[in-house]
Amino acid sequence: MNSAVSTPLTARRGGPLQGRTRVPGDKSISHRALILGALTVGETTVAGLLEGEDVLHTAEAMRALGARLERGDDGLWRIHGVGVGGFVQSRGPLDFGNSGTGCRLAIGAAAGSPVTTSFIGDASLSGRPMRRVLDPIEKMGARVIEAAGDGRLPLTIRGAVDPVPIIYESPVPSAQLKSAVLLAGLAAPGETTVIEAEATRDHTEKLLKHFGAKLTSKPHGEHGRRITLQGQPELEPANVVVPADPSSAAFPMVAVLLVPGSDVIFEAVMTNPLRTGLLKTLREMGAMIEAQAARDDGGEEVADLRVTASKLKGVDVPAERAPSMIDEYPILAVAASFAEGVTRMRGLKELRVKESDRLEATAAMLRANGVGVEIDGDDLIVLGKATVPGGAEVATHMDHRIAMAAVVMGLAADNPVRIDDSAFIATSFPGFVELMRSLGAELS
Ligand code: S3P
Repeated sequence: MNSAVSTPLTARRGGPLQGRTRVPGDKSISHRALILGALTVGETTVAGLLEGEDVLHTAEAMRALGARLERGDDGLWRIHGVGVGGFVQSRGPLDFGNSGTGCRLAIGAAAGSPVTTSFIGDASLSGRPMRRVLDPIEKMGARVIEAAGDGRLPLTIRGAVDPVPIIYESPVPSAQLKSAVLLAGLAAPGETTVIEAEATRDHTEKLLKHFGAKLTSKPHGEHGRRITLQGQPELEPANVVVPADPSSAAFPMVAVLLVPGSDVIFEAVMTNPLRTGLLKTLREMGAMIEAQAARDDGGEEVADLRVTASKLKGVDVPAERAPSMIDEYPILAVAASFAEGVTRMRGLKELRVKESDRLEATAAMLRANGVGVEIDGDDLIVLGKATVPGGAEVATHMDHRIAMAAVVMGLAADNPVRIDDSAFIATSFPGFVELMRSLGAELS
């Protein structure tokens, strides 16, 4: 996102939200499908790909590394990859825009090909820590040729000529880090193992198996997993179906809960248990969310979710739930603002290194709009009073999720809420404004 001109947006209270809708494809699966397709010889197809800016940057990066990617008029993406370890030297740096996922996964994938690759991104991405993925890939034989600061973009790596498999105990609960190690491990002989103390989203594991890799995932400790990948597989071309993104659905779903009289069905939302922490929490708060027609779609669980406006109460959200709802705290904080009573969200350290410092940005959004909020160590405490004065302009800090959360706040607050810039919403949720308007939201 390089737009020099910011695009403000104002949300105000209106009538109930109603209808039936489907949010765009899952961002995590979309990135992974493109990268694995690029590492596979033969034709992979991807249906329902999220065509947001983050994922389009990953598509461009895979092209630069030698894969052929085309979007058909039917919306189907066709990928002809180069095979594991087969990336070519890119002509210029790979630009990942705002996307931490695209960048970190691609660093892992590129670490397994003996080429030199540079990574760049926008101001937000350039401030985010990459050391967490550089450490394991260096252990696997890749070299960091240059990196800014303590391992930030712009950075350049030289992929390993003879990648070494490792056993890696992940120091942070991060699916991106786990995925980077597994993608690098594809090119190594023998077994690469990642041990995570807290289970994080398992889309990489599922897709690796879908592409024919041998992988096992076993429980580890109380909440963790031990994942072992057999290296140097012949990945087989696969057809990937991308379900609707629960992290995108979260925004209109909370809007429906908060605007009196609302009733909306969200079609085919992914309900992978490692992504449903928000659903669980909202239900504990008293939200009426009914899962209908639960089914399997391309290897992921999905359901139609019927959401009805509900009175909410404050709850305590345990730290171990964080990985299953890590992107949902800004919108949960909005829901908590309209709840009766205190909501305490525990263990949010990782929010400090998202597209913005989301712990601070979320607290600032609430405070500006008259909501009582405190940060206590890594916890966020929201003092819900059932109504929110609103009336402020929210600084979105190049963060799509802060932008969408503030918009939802404005739809239910006493006074309109304005965001300084709506442009970054397109990184993950193209068509957000149109979808919200189609349900009846007043946005201008
Ligand atoms: C993602 C993992 C999470 C999440 C991000 C997508 C992924 O990041 O915040 O939006 O697709 O693996 P971390 O791995 O840094 O927690």
